[in-house]
Amino acid sequence: MKKVLFFALVLLASHKGRSQSGQAQPPVYPASPTLTGSLTSTGSPSLTGPDKSPVSTGTPDSVFLFSYATPKDKGHSGLHFAWSTDKKTWNLIGNEYGYVKSDYGEWGSQKQMNSPYLFQDAAGQWRCVWSLNESLDQFACAASPDLIDWGRQRYPYLKQNQSFRQPVVHYNKTTREYLIAFISGDQYLRTTTKDFKVFTPAVSVPVSQYTDDRITVNLPAGSLRGNVAKVPRQVVERLDQFSQEKQHKADQAREESPKNDSTRFAGIKSLTATVTLKPESRKPISSSLIGVFFEDINYAADGGLYAELLQNRDFEYTPGDRKYHDSTWNSKYSWTAKGLGFTIDSAAPLHPNNPHYAVLDATSSKGALINSGYDGIPLKKGDEYAFSVFARNPNEKSTGLLVKLVAQDGSILAQAALNIDAQQWQKYPVTLTAAADASNASLELQMSTGGRLMLDMVSLFPKKTFKGRSNGMRADLAEAIAAIHPRFIRFPGGCVTHGDGLDNIYRWKNTVGPIEARKPQPNIWRYHQSVGLGFFEYFQYCEDIGAEPLPVIAAGVPCQNSSLTAKGGGQQGGIPMSEMGQYVQDILDLVEWANGPATSKWGKLRAESGHPAPFHLKYIGIGNEDLISDIFEERFTMIYKAIRQKHPEITVIGTVGPFYTGTDYEQGWDLAGRLKIPMVDEHYYESPGWFINNQDFYDHYDRTKPKVYLGEYASWGNTLFNALSEALYLTSLERNGDVVQMASYAPLLAREKHTQWNPDLIYFSNTEVRPTVNYEVQKLFGNNAGNEYLPTTIQLSVPSTDHSPTSPTGQSSVPSTEQFSAPSKGQVTAPSTSPGGDQAVRKRLGVSVVRDTTNDVIIIKLVNLLPIPTTVKLDLGDLTKGRQAERSVLHGLPDDKAAPVTVTATLPADQVLNETLPPYSLTVWKIHR
Ligand code: AHR
Repeated sequence: MKKVLFFALVLLASHKGRSQSGQAQPPVYPASPTLTGSLTSTGSPSLTGPDKSPVSTGTPDSVFLFSYATPKDKGHSGLHFAWSTDKKTWNLIGNEYGYVKSDYGEWGSQKQMNSPYLFQDAAGQWRCVWSLNESLDQFACAASPDLIDWGRQRYPYLKQNQSFRQPVVHYNKTTREYLIAFISGDQYLRTTTKDFKVFTPAVSVPVSQYTDDRITVNLPAGSLRGNVAKVPRQVVERLDQFSQEKQHKADQAREESPKNDSTRFAGIKSLTATVTLKPESRKPISSSLIGVFFEDINYAADGGLYAELLQNRDFEYTPGDRKYHDSTWNSKYSWTAKGLGFTIDSAAPLHPNNPHYAVLDATSSKGALINSGYDGIPLKKGDEYAFSVFARNPNEKSTGLLVKLVAQDGSILAQAALNIDAQQWQKYPVTLTAAADASNASLELQMSTGGRLMLDMVSLFPKKTFKGRSNGMRADLAEAIAAIHPRFIRFPGGCVTHGDGLDNIYRWKNTVGPIEARKPQPNIWRYHQSVGLGFFEYFQYCEDIGAEPLPVIAAGVPCQNSSLTAKGGGQQGGIPMSEMGQYVQDILDLVEWANGPATSKWGKLRAESGHPAPFHLKYIGIGNEDLISDIFEERFTMIYKAIRQKHPEITVIGTVGPFYTGTDYEQGWDLAGRLKIPMVDEHYYESPGWFINNQDFYDHYDRTKPKVYLGEYASWGNTLFNALSEALYLTSLERNGDVVQMASYAPLLAREKHTQWNPDLIYFSNTEVRPTVNYEVQKLFGNNAGNEYLPTTIQLSVPSTDHSPTSPTGQSSVPSTEQFSAPSKGQVTAPSTSPGGDQAVRKRLGVSVVRDTTNDVIIIKLVNLLPIPTTVKLDLGDLTKGRQAERSVLHGLPDDKAAPVTVTATLPADQVLNETLPPYSLTVWKIHR
């Protein structure tokens, strides 16, 4: 478990929190007087007094650039730079900002950049070659025009027994080849390339052909080896400026904290916002904006939404689920035997996909096999529970099996007897009724006599599942999700979709049909997926709650953070092209399974599962925030073209990396543009300050390019302040609803004490569902969606009795009129922000007016993330005639983790809305006939 937590924490810290640091006046560090390393080096810095001068007009036109990674963190922080005029005294650039980071392999142990070698190629492009680790038969290279924007990383293979460290690169002008010499074990090897895509097999070279020109410099991180290039001064200036901008943005985001609010907004006691509606500029927006992201993370499926009460019902848990770090995690997990023999066998299994089963050997009727469920089995007095087991009886005579539900104090809450007589696998069902409530009961199976029994797929379901479906969903959780009124459900992930390595890619065909024939597998979040909750159940649930199904299928590559296997780490192990034809066919089969007639091959399977009518699948996501590598592009393109050709009616959603910026984002968008993909999936988890400061993010988007599905986003926390920063951002998504078609907060569910990721939208235990304040925001937006956006302008003023010492103008009035209606094409310049000034106030207020034309409803959303009340005046003109209104308000203190939504129904709708918004609140007006 510790390992799992570590994995998640590392993932959170490094993957999502790329906060960078920089400094206006970088400190100066002397070069080391000695050179280290066993190999020849041409650098020989000597120490003199430190050069205090930052890059300035007094600095020579060209300077030395030292590039290095820090071995202490195995290069996790990426490629750093320092500069010098004389190679003696060195100045940090960007205070060890990582200008490019290695993206190979899993978080924590991999993503290493060892001994990077930076150089400019013959065309003037910067290239960096580095070692991934001491033993791997792969290395890494990437290129950049300016040392700031870096292109795709490539991880070329060497021969199996070769490894790669301390590369040195030379250019042979005659042959126009780059010679990459490196150390492999105790040998010197060399590979050559012309384009950094194709490399010759590495061959052994004499030591004389390996000249390491790295030097050693003393820097805060230690004595560091790196190589030096001569660059124009402007290169350093740009690098410095870039890191400072990053730092400035990070500082600005940090500033947006409730801790600072009382001082930042001290001078303003109240505020009035006059909102002017521009109904003539209305525009259609997506009516499917709010949906949910479902991933089996935090025990969201097994032990969560999937109502099965027994854990490890199929005896298929394997130590590999937990990467062999938990010796208790095996086929017997969650089971204990008392007074009888309990072994696991796999001869003549129930189904080849479920090879393991339990063998019970009893000498009397006294013993029992016990399952403790997920932290116990919850029961409700009077409720019925469907028990079933597949069993095989090798004895001469039939054997009784007593099924008991037992409370913590040993009292029996329900029991029923089965007679196991079949010598072949057979299913034995029985219903149990709970005599009392229990939060922590267990299941006990007791044989009536001595002998042997084989058992598999031991299952206990409440009969009261969501909509009473068999193999169904836990009702309270399913209802909580349905209450958001999501227009779509994305499943099965997240990283679960593309899995931990090739063999762990989620294959939909393994998740449909009879549960005993489904193929369980390890979960990338380090537990187990029974896939009892499979594609049929997901589609059925979507239909039940009126949401579009949005399955996401791996793009033929596993998660870029996969652990290293024989087939390589991360996405280097794409599905072999020889197998891609079948993989593509599986995706086409999914469309037939979902939409084809019951007479078609795959439609028949759906019908046999109990759904003869088509599911009307409209969207398929391909890929999940993948590394946009050559391997990815080749496979994605193949899948995309096949779907487009065979099913032009399906909207394919592409992927543009895990961040709102960076290489994968750029490369993903570039690919989407080239292939004309209709929509792409963006992901970002950021601070509340980021969401507050980036409300103009989509105002800048080119309306002619692919549409956006914001598939994963969340601010880092579950306080009201976090939730309201998301609400502000959601008003900006509505404003940009012509571009952003769909959005889903992530992750959705988390079982308390079993979380691999925080924050989440809904926490739960066996007996309770604990929605967060972030959930309340999603629910308010989900239930108040529109398909038309009515732009507004906002004028802010502070009453003349107030003082606004923090206003940069020093006046009591804060004029702030902004056109917040994004044009359909082109860009809107973001208003600049100054802490405590006009913009600081303005960006804490969100207004969105939408209309649901199908139901003739107008909805006004008002977010006040200020610590002061704000009066909003909005003239709705004719729109209110003869109408009623309903008001919902979510408010509280910024650190609150729970806050009620107060609903005031059926107020007459006045022409002029004159509403005082409480501090830290979201108010929604719904105006209807
Ligand atoms: O939402 C949790 C994880 O965040 C998803 O699995 C992954 O896609 C992202 O990195």
